[in-house]
Amino acid sequence: MKYSDITPTFGAELAAGTQLTELSDDNVIALKQLAAERGIVVARDQNMDVHDQAAFGHRLGPIMDAPQKIPDVPDGLILIQAGPKSRAVAGQKWHSDVSSEPIPPGISMLRMEVVPPSGGDTLFADMYGAFEQLSPALQNFLKQLNARHDPKGHYLYLSGAKRLGELPSTSHPVVRTHPLTGRNALYVNSGFVGRINELSSLESERLLALLYDHIAYSVNIQCRVKWEPNTVVFWDNRVVQHHAAFDYYPEVRRGYRVTVVGEAPYLAN
Ligand code: SIN
Repeated sequence: MKYSDITPTFGAELAAGTQLTELSDDNVIALKQLAAERGIVVARDQNMDVHDQAAFGHRLGPIMDAPQKIPDVPDGLILIQAGPKSRAVAGQKWHSDVSSEPIPPGISMLRMEVVPPSGGDTLFADMYGAFEQLSPALQNFLKQLNARHDPKGHYLYLSGAKRLGELPSTSHPVVRTHPLTGRNALYVNSGFVGRINELSSLESERLLALLYDHIAYSVNIQCRVKWEPNTVVFWDNRVVQHHAAFDYYPEVRRGYRVTVVGEAPYLAN
């Protein structure tokens, strides 16, 4: 696969002319490996509709169920939409998609159809880099810990439950190993994590605040994607967090996301 780096350590943009719908099975394996190594992969100018996107998602792995069923849109696609009536958008804080699942997502694939004249970028942060930039002493401490991830509102649609409190939380290691690279990444996010299990409530709160500040302020582990119509971005939720900028109100931004099931997070070493 031909691509250019977005930063020296993070993100890849596929060469102009690459059409995802024409990739061979070997190329799809290479794309998953590239997402594992570089965190995010950007593909511009894709000739793709919702049906092609669903078909491509299935080539990446089993697709997670989606909260909405949209007429004429294949199951599993989530509509990402904002316009003049929007007061907030999905993903407006640093997070890893639905990490409260016992088997959380691997790759997410977002394809944008309508973009605002300016703004509406998605920011990404590299959790390999976030972990590796910590001191060895803190790295070793974090490797002993697990965090509780709590479901958020959209799960109510999927589960049929009436209240969030009826839905189970899940614990995952604070540091996880990517199965394709063997590298360790920080795996706590402000979107879903309630607390660190092994610490007191105060210790957990302060340690999470330190880690979230580290993620938010470490600009050298981040990149930012400017969307164009027909841009597709893949991110590997095992090792990446993202943050949707909502700076374009009242303009319209619309696209679809497919989320591919990963595996239960583990720490190998
Ligand atoms: C999301 O959190 O998946 C939405 C990202 C975006 O809209 O840029």
